[in-house]
Amino acid sequence: MCGIVGYIGFREAYPVLIKGLHRLEYRGYDSAGVALINERNNLSVYKSKGRVQDLEEYVQDKDTSGTIGIAHTRWATHGEPSNANAHPHYSQSESLALIHNGIIENYAVLKAQLIANGYTFHSSTDTEVLVQWIEYIRQLNGYDLLTAVQIALSQVVGAYAIALLEKGNPDQIIAARKSSPLVVGVGKGEFFLASDASPIIEYTNKVIYLDDEEIAVIRRDQEPKIITLTNVRKPLHIKELEMNLSELERGGYPHFMLKEIFEQPETLKNCMSGRINVEATNVTLSGIIDHKDKFIQAKRIIIVACGTSWHAGLIGKYLFEEFCRVPVEVEYASEFRYRHPVIHPEDIVIAISQSGETADSLAAIELARHAGAFVYGICNVVGSSIPRNTHSGSYTHCGHEIGVASTKAFTAQITVLTMMALAIGKEKGKISVEKYLAVIKELSHIPEKIERVLALNKSIKKLSRIFTYARNFIYLGRGYNYPIALEGALKLKEISYIHAEGYPAAEMKHGPIALIDNEMPVVAIATHNTVYEKVVSNIQEIKARNGRVIAIVTEGDKSVKSLVDHCIEIPSTEECLEPLLTSIPLQLIAYHIAVNKNRDVDMPRNLAKSVTVE
Ligand code: F6R
Repeated sequence: MCGIVGYIGFREAYPVLIKGLHRLEYRGYDSAGVALINERNNLSVYKSKGRVQDLEEYVQDKDTSGTIGIAHTRWATHGEPSNANAHPHYSQSESLALIHNGIIENYAVLKAQLIANGYTFHSSTDTEVLVQWIEYIRQLNGYDLLTAVQIALSQVVGAYAIALLEKGNPDQIIAARKSSPLVVGVGKGEFFLASDASPIIEYTNKVIYLDDEEIAVIRRDQEPKIITLTNVRKPLHIKELEMNLSELERGGYPHFMLKEIFEQPETLKNCMSGRINVEATNVTLSGIIDHKDKFIQAKRIIIVACGTSWHAGLIGKYLFEEFCRVPVEVEYASEFRYRHPVIHPEDIVIAISQSGETADSLAAIELARHAGAFVYGICNVVGSSIPRNTHSGSYTHCGHEIGVASTKAFTAQITVLTMMALAIGKEKGKISVEKYLAVIKELSHIPEKIERVLALNKSIKKLSRIFTYARNFIYLGRGYNYPIALEGALKLKEISYIHAEGYPAAEMKHGPIALIDNEMPVVAIATHNTVYEKVVSNIQEIKARNGRVIAIVTEGDKSVKSLVDHCIEIPSTEECLEPLLTSIPLQLIAYHIAVNKNRDVDMPRNLAKSVTVE
C-alpha cells in the first residue's frame, strides 16, 4: 500500500528516488510523484497518474536537479488514481511537501477545521489534509517544524509513514511512522528512507527501523535523530541487512513471479537450513525451544492471517491437529479483530504473513497480546512489524518476494508450519517416532521433488493455452489439498482476472455442481493418499455432467488418468507434504494463463503486495 523513498546526500537525488520507486512499485502502482529541492532552494513537486515510468516520461523536460528529495508510488485509498491525488502534496503556502503511506481516519474533522480557517484543497486525499494540518499548527503557534509535526501527528487517528520536505531547507527530511513501515538507510555522508529495505540495499546495508510514533530528523552530514511524538530522544539502533541485491533482479526470467516459482527448491532449502539436521533425523526451531512449555501446555492454537497466508494457516490446522493433537482455529485476521473473539492466556496465537506489515494481522496480534495469549509470528520480511510485535517466531527465509502473487513465501510458510508441528508433536509425545522420522526425511527431499514438478513447466504451458479463454474455473481438493484448491483459485483470479472458486471436493454435490457443464474447467487434486478414492468419486460426478477435468495426480496413476481430460503427474510424497508439490503446477497454470492473456503478472490491477491499510 504505497511505497515511500527519500534521499539526502552527495548524489543527485532524482535517479536514486526513481530507482527506489521501481523497487517499491509492487506496493502500489496507480500514480507516482517526486519532490526535490534544487541548489536555488526551490521546492518542486512532479507527479503523474500511472506507473513510475509515466512519471519519468512526464519529468523528462523538468528540472530534476538537487541532492535531496522524496518520492512516492501510490495504491489509492482516499480518492481515485489521478494526477491531483498523487503524492507528494503541498501545504497551502507550498512551503511543505509530504508523502504518506497509510490512512488518516479523522481527516474529515481536521479538513472541516482547516476549511473554516480558509484552507483550500486540490485533491480528495487524507494526505493533503495532513500536510495542511502540520502547516496550520505551525503557523498558529509559531512552532518550529519538528514541534508542529509532533503535535499534528499526536492529533491524528490512523496509520502513517510520512516524509516531509520544507522549501528553503535543503538539509533536512523529517519522517515518521505509526503502523506503516519505514526504514532509514545510513550510508557514508548520505541517508535513505524507504518503506522497505529494497531501495536502500544497493547503497548501504546499515539501517534503522523506526518504531510506532517515532520521528526521524535526517540532516545532511549529521547522525539521524530519532525522537518520539512526546519528545523523548531514542538511542540509534543500527542493524545490518542480510538482503542480497541479486534478489531484487529478475535474473533472466520474464517475470518475478516465474523466477520466484522456480526459486522454490532453493528457498525451501534455505528455510530448512539449520533447522533440520544433516541426517534429517531431527528438527529444531529456536523460536519454539525458547518457549517449549508454552507450546506443550497450550489448550488451543489460533492462526490469524490474510489471503495466501491464511491458506497456509489452513494447512497448519491439519498439521497441528494430526501431529500435536491440539485444537486449531484458523481466522481471517480482518474478521478476528472485530469479532470480540474469546482468547485465553493459555492460547497460542500464530500470525502468518509474508510482508510482516499486513494491517489486519497486526491488529489481530495486538488483540491477542492484550488478552494475554502467547503470540508467535511466521514472517518473511526480516525486521518487519510482525516479528517486532510477537513474543517469538520463525522467519521463512525465502528472500525478497516481489511478484504481487505470493508463491515461494507460501511454500516456505507451509514448511515452517510443518517443522513446528513436528517439533511440538515430538515434545508433546503425540507423534510416533516412525512418523516423525519419515516426515522429516521426506521434507528434506521436497526440494528435489519440486525440481521434478518444475520440469513439467513446458507441458503445463502448453496445457494452459487450451484454457486461456475459460471464463470460470473450479478447483477441488480434499484434506491437506483442500487449502491448495483455494490457493490455486486465488492465484488464477488475481493475475488472470478469471473468476475461480476453490471447494472441498465433496462439497460440490451440496450446490456448486449445478455450475458444471463443458465450459467449466475443473482442476482436481487427486493424489494417491487417504482420500484418493473419495476424490475419484467426486471426479466421476463431474465427468457425468460433462465437466472438463484437469487432474493433479501421483506419478504412475492409472484410474484418474483414464477418467479425466488432462493429467499432471507429480512425485509421491507423505500426505502431509503434498501441498508443497501440488501447489507448484497450480502456480504455473495461473502464471501461463495470465501471460497468454497479456496480463501484468507481477503487478496485477487493483492489488498491492503489502496491505498496510485495513
Ligand atoms: C496473494 C497474496 C495475498 C497476501 C495477503 C497477506 O497472492 O499475496 O493474498 O497473502 O495480502 O499478505 P501477507 O502475507 O504479507 O500478510
